[in-house]
Amino acid sequence: MSPQKVIISDKLDRTLEEAISECEHDMIFVLADETTADCCLPVVEDFGCLKDAKRIVIEATDAHKDFASLMTVWKHLSEGGATRHTLLINIGGGMVTDLGGFAASTFKRGINYINIPTTLLSMVDASVGGKTGINFLGLKNEIGVFNNAKSVILDTEFLKTLDVENMLSGYAEMLKHGLINNEKMLGELLSFDIEKPNLEELKRMVAESVAVKQRIVTEDPTEKSIRKALNLGHTAGHAFESLALKRKPVLHGYAVAWGLIVELYLSAIKTGFPSEKMHQTARFILDHYGKMNITCDDYPTLLELMTHDKKNVAGIINFTLLGGVGDILINQTATKEEIYEALDFYRES
Ligand code: GLY
Repeated sequence: MSPQKVIISDKLDRTLEEAISECEHDMIFVLADETTADCCLPVVEDFGCLKDAKRIVIEATDAHKDFASLMTVWKHLSEGGATRHTLLINIGGGMVTDLGGFAASTFKRGINYINIPTTLLSMVDASVGGKTGINFLGLKNEIGVFNNAKSVILDTEFLKTLDVENMLSGYAEMLKHGLINNEKMLGELLSFDIEKPNLEELKRMVAESVAVKQRIVTEDPTEKSIRKALNLGHTAGHAFESLALKRKPVLHGYAVAWGLIVELYLSAIKTGFPSEKMHQTARFILDHYGKMNITCDDYPTLLELMTHDKKNVAGIINFTLLGGVGDILINQTATKEEIYEALDFYRES
């Protein structure tokens, strides 16, 4: 996979101009969804480097990360005269960068693309590392390819208008990066006020968080080994997210945060993760994210959802656990009794 540049920018117009000049191109298209078309596209549309760019706007939310929106993008590219040398710039949250990345990766067998993530979740996770795709037949990210953006440009100014729930959603992935990285980073994250953030501090922390992800995806771009570290919290998290879909949908990061509680508990009873760190992290999560209420009657459904997670091999649930902060143990499994005990811990916390 071709390398990806991740740039933390203070001057978006200049950074974007440089990134564009590094991609030979005949035309530029800018993709946004209806939300970012209103609040973010106006920030970039007046830039000199985008004066001749054509805009594509698709419907917002994960429900539209589908084949219909993908066709809309391909149609605009094709009818707008895009060639193999055309550049696509995706501006938005993970839905736009995932779908736009996939549209670019498949149009005329692949054109270059640049991501400008505008949510915390897409800055620290979705837009970095080349996972592109769409949902299909009700399954998240069922169709897609690994293909890096040429550049990912992070401008934390966009976070000024992000609501607290979406801020917390992205912050769950930052907590995950702290847990797989080191004590110092985790300590900072657990003492930071993410609900009333100091944006200068947050900018530095975003840069550190992205550097953790960037290091891991560079080592293992297609998730054969260490990239699985990024799945910490996600096996249980995806089960919470899917269960919530049947009740009241929750933001991805909330489900990941609750999944972290379950998987840190498993780490504590199975792989020696320090109990006091587990309690400290769980306390932070409960204080900020609250809890999705579950009962023992939900356990079989949650277990079933974990069993069908696409990261599993031969139906055996695959967890990433920790032996300590920064001590990553991939390809771990757990018995039904252990998983139920972890769900008891979550429920009773
Ligand atoms: N979101 C996890 C990864 O990019 O591998």
